[in-house]
Amino acid sequence: MSLEKKKQIAAEAAFDYIQVNDIVGVGTGSTANYFIDGLAKLKGKIDGAVASSVASSERLKQHGIEVIDANNVASLPIYVDGADEATVHKHLIKGGGGAHTREKIVAAISEKFVCIADDSKLVDVLGEFPLPIEVIPMSRSYVARQLVKIGGAPELREDFVTDNGNLILDVHNLQILNPVEMEQQLNNLAGVVTVGIFAIRPADVLILGSDSGPKIS
Ligand code: 5RP
Repeated sequence: MSLEKKKQIAAEAAFDYIQVNDIVGVGTGSTANYFIDGLAKLKGKIDGAVASSVASSERLKQHGIEVIDANNVASLPIYVDGADEATVHKHLIKGGGGAHTREKIVAAISEKFVCIADDSKLVDVLGEFPLPIEVIPMSRSYVARQLVKIGGAPELREDFVTDNGNLILDVHNLQILNPVEMEQQLNNLAGVVTVGIFAIRPADVLILGSDSGPKIS
């Protein structure tokens, strides 16, 4: 079965978590796009969506789904988004699409974070996927030097500016054995906006699309 089909299976399984009148937090990326496209069928039943990127916001609007500013909701019952890597502990690497700062904000205000992915994203240890770190442009070199000191190999994402006007360092060679500690440590570097580790606030539900259907944990 193709990875695309597995992403679709995971996205479809997430609809079981949506209730009538929910405002839904919506992620970014190809798996989240399958979810957005399916959400269009429910648009009369939900009260709107909070988007984690300009791209997702535009896709939601194209489907006629009302997009609500995150500042105008006290909390969200549910947030559905993809991941670049996930562990059985529901710790994630996100940010392959460079949207992880807004994704972390949506995750923070959500009661339930449902992560959807194809089963190739499941790993024992996070870090084979280069860790995306959003940085203020002025701090790019400083942060890169600090990352080298801890054994990382940072690479500036070429021709890319985030929705927030910042840069992304993709950090290779990290074996993230303690994701919570690493997230805290990297968050503390001056000029770091957001680290792509989601461990302090992990997913609550992980849905992996597989050959035998959705695997939910
Ligand atoms: C975007 C993300 C995405 O969720 C992540 O990159 C997975 O994308 P895809 O569903 O296309 O594999 O974190 O910033």
